[in-house]
Amino acid sequence: MASNLNSHKRKSLAIYPGTFDPITMGHLDIIDRALNLFDRVIVAIAINPGKKPLFSLQERIEMIKKCFPDDYSRIEIDTVSGLLVQYAAEKNATAIIRGLRAVSDFDYEFQLALMNKKLEREVDTIFLMPGFRWIYISSSIIKDAARHGGDVCELVPAHVNQALLSVFRNN
Ligand code: COA
Repeated sequence: MASNLNSHKRKSLAIYPGTFDPITMGHLDIIDRALNLFDRVIVAIAINPGKKPLFSLQERIEMIKKCFPDDYSRIEIDTVSGLLVQYAAEKNATAIIRGLRAVSDFDYEFQLALMNKKLEREVDTIFLMPGFRWIYISSSIIKDAARHGGDVCELVPAHVNQALLSVFRNN
């Protein structure tokens, strides 16, 4: 404990991983909160083999980049192809950020966090709650609504809404 207090701390860095297919206002809310706690945040698009993304990796990167048009001094956008904790350790990150929206997220997130801890004990997982207005959204539910012509413009950035409209218009 004392060694932590005495150590000359590097600038704090957190990794915010996810599939981001696509990025939503809920994700942006979490990034905002993470930037209040850490000097820098890497938004890391990770491969989840259980998912078949609608948008290509490059499209997802571009969509996230467009959310931060001016300032890259505290935000980085990257991809992770291997083990997340290994990536976090290589980057000297202090923490992995995950959003917790509802109790239903907890089981999976708890398991993920414990497994990550087992694999790399130096990296902690920090759970952040998004604002109440984003508590019910997920990328899948937004895609599903958009696919059926539902208006999701308040739930995603404008350019993401445009991308959803053009994908589903052409389907
Ligand atoms: N606002 C909106 N949606 C949110 C949200 C928020 N604040 N927080 C979570 N979500 C949604 C996401 O949109 C996503 O929705 P979807 O399932 O409809 O796409 C869902 O919650 C959770 O997905 P996401 O946060 O994208 O994570 P994931 O479960 O797809 O991936 C990884 C989890 C990337 C962290 C995990 O697969 C990983 O670590 N991969 C790297 C390989 C590795 O290390 N594996 C070992 C792990 S022990």
